[in-house]
Amino acid sequence: MSTPVFSVDGLWKVFGPKADRVPADPELTALPAAELRTRTGCTAAVRDVSFGVRKGEVFVVMGLSGSGKSTLVRCLTRLIEPTAGTIAIDGEDVRAMDKARLRELRRHRAAMVFQHFGLLPHRTVLDNVAYGLEIQGVGRAERREKAAEVVAKVGLTGLEQRRPGQLSGGQQQRVGLARALAVDPEVLLFDEPFSALDPLIRREMQEEVVRLHRDEGRTMVFITHDLNEALKLGDRIALMRDGRIVQLGTPEEIVGSPADDYVREFVRDVPREQVMTVRTAMRPASAEEAGAGPAVAPAATVSEAIEAVARNGGPVRVVDAGRCLGVVDSEGLLGVVAGTAPRKEVA
Ligand SMILES: Nc1ncnc2c1ncn2[C@@H]1O[C@H](COP(=O)(O)OP(=O)(O)OP(=O)(O)O)[C@@H](O)[C@H]1O
Ligand SMILES: [Mg+2]
Repeated sequence: MSTPVFSVDGLWKVFGPKADRVPADPELTALPAAELRTRTGCTAAVRDVSFGVRKGEVFVVMGLSGSGKSTLVRCLTRLIEPTAGTIAIDGEDVRAMDKARLRELRRHRAAMVFQHFGLLPHRTVLDNVAYGLEIQGVGRAERREKAAEVVAKVGLTGLEQRRPGQLSGGQQQRVGLARALAVDPEVLLFDEPFSALDPLIRREMQEEVVRLHRDEGRTMVFITHDLNEALKLGDRIALMRDGRIVQLGTPEEIVGSPADDYVREFVRDVPREQVMTVRTAMRPASAEEAGAGPAVAPAATVSEAIEAVARNGGPVRVVDAGRCLGVVDSEGLLGVVAGTAPRKEVA
């Protein structure tokens, strides 16, 4: 596996007086949040968190309000100063960066898209999008050309000369996204960018993210407190609770093998057949079954396979690059839906 874009190890963020002493003191770190606050006046927003963000993946940080999502993601570019731990981007130590290097990190390498779009009200859409390039010192002609290209990419063609106040919330969010994309960052960081949008616009923006991921292979870190959004967008999801990552895995791993009762409760109402893939439901094929017949891919959802089995009137093969990995039948598939299928390791 290649080096992660971001690697985070033993990260802590403690707010409050003499915050530094908290991560180093096992007696303090063992305290429940409320007690830590009364004893020290400190809040441990991020507690000993470690993970890597892989190149080209959508890494979702999910958790309830106050679980530490924003603090964690802001620590990545030191918009919030970490208290302890290490952070590297492409192997470079972020905590050792000086001011100039940090500025370059935030402007070129890891651009943030916020929930409140932070657009400049007196500038046109085009100039808002070009703004990031302007502060990079890119010349006027070049930045307008680049801005126009990105404006088209996010579906704002025709609105270039409007001001933010003349746009809907969804359109403003697209401008915010375009502005982040204009600098062509290695990683896009999103802090609940769509939670203020109405459901239809929200879905459109989610599809925009899926498209950016699929077509451009952008690496993205995406914060949400919405489980459905997390499952839809995430290649992997880090589920946070009280400053800790309680589970880090693919949507299928989180829904199929919750790490504890908290996660189990969190994912209880997820329609499993739409998240679980046929890998979980598969059984070995007999020689006769392996030879011929309709097939689905290993990444097919249980829901898709149920249709295929119904159409075929019997078991369907799971085929990957011409090789038959096994078969799924209605019994195995329904077992996954009911949550009674034997839990197999997901490759
Ligand atoms: N500047 C600060 N000073 C003190 N405590 C803070 C500060 N910023 C955040 N916190 C606390 O840290 C914890 C985590 O906050 P954070 O904003 O990271 O949560 P979140 O998961 O992003 O929540 P939300 O979903 O509401 O945005 C909370 O208890 C919050 O009150
Ligand atoms: Mg937040």
